Amino acid sequence: MSFCVAIDGPAAAGKGTVSKAVSKHFGFPYLDTGLLYRATGAKTFEGLTPLEAAESLTTADLERDDLRSGDAGQAASRVAALPEVRSALVDFQQAFARREGGAVLDGRDIGTVICPDAEVKLYITASDEVRAQRRYAELVAKGENVTEEEVLADLRERDERDSARATAPLKPAEDATVIDTSEMSIDEAVAKVIALIEVAQQAQ
Ligand code: DC
Repeated sequence: MSFCVAIDGPAAAGKGTVSKAVSKHFGFPYLDTGLLYRATGAKTFEGLTPLEAAESLTTADLERDDLRSGDAGQAASRVAALPEVRSALVDFQQAFARREGGAVLDGRDIGTVICPDAEVKLYITASDEVRAQRRYAELVAKGENVTEEEVLADLRERDERDSARATAPLKPAEDATVIDTSEMSIDEAVAKVIALIEVAQQAQ
C-alpha cells in the first residue's frame, strides 16, 4: 500500500528537518524535491540548457556538495519557473510518491501538483525573520561568510519568484494543514506532524 506525506512551504521553514524526522519515525523513504531543482540549476552553470540539465539528471548530480549554496538555490528557483523543466521532473517524483510502503516528499507543489491525492498534506511556514535567522545560523555553522540581511533578502527573492510563477506556484493546497513554526521548537513541530500522520493512518 502507498501512503504519501506531502510537505510544502517556503524556503527555510523547517520542511527538511520535519521530513527527515517523519521519514525516520515511520520508515518512509524521503525525497527532497528541492534537490532536483538545485541539481538542475547547478548543471546549467556548466553550459547545459535547463531542459538538458533536467533530462540528464543522475543520482551523482544529486550528491554534489555545492547544492546547498545560495547560488544553487537561486539557480534552482529560476529553472523551476520553466514549465518544461517541471514536466521533465514530474514522473520521477510521482513514482516516488506512490511507492509501496509510503513516502514523504517536500517541496513547493507536492500537495497541489505532484501528489494531489496525498494521504497527508502539510504546508509548513514561519515568519520571514525567523526563517532568515534559522538559515543564517546554519550557514554560519558551515563557515559561510554571509549577513542575516543577505539571507533574508535571498529568501524573500526566491519566495516571490516561486509564488509568482504561472506553473505550479508555491501555495498551500486547499486541503493542506498549515503549520506555522515561528514560535515552535523543531521537536514541537515534529510531534505535531507525527500526530497528524497517525490520525490519517488510522483513517485508512
Ligand atoms: O526546497 P529548496 O529551497 O531546496 O528548493 C530550491 C528551489 O527549487 C526553490 O526556490 C523552488 C524550487 N522548487 C520548486 O519549484 N518545486 C519543488 N517541489 C521544490 C523546489
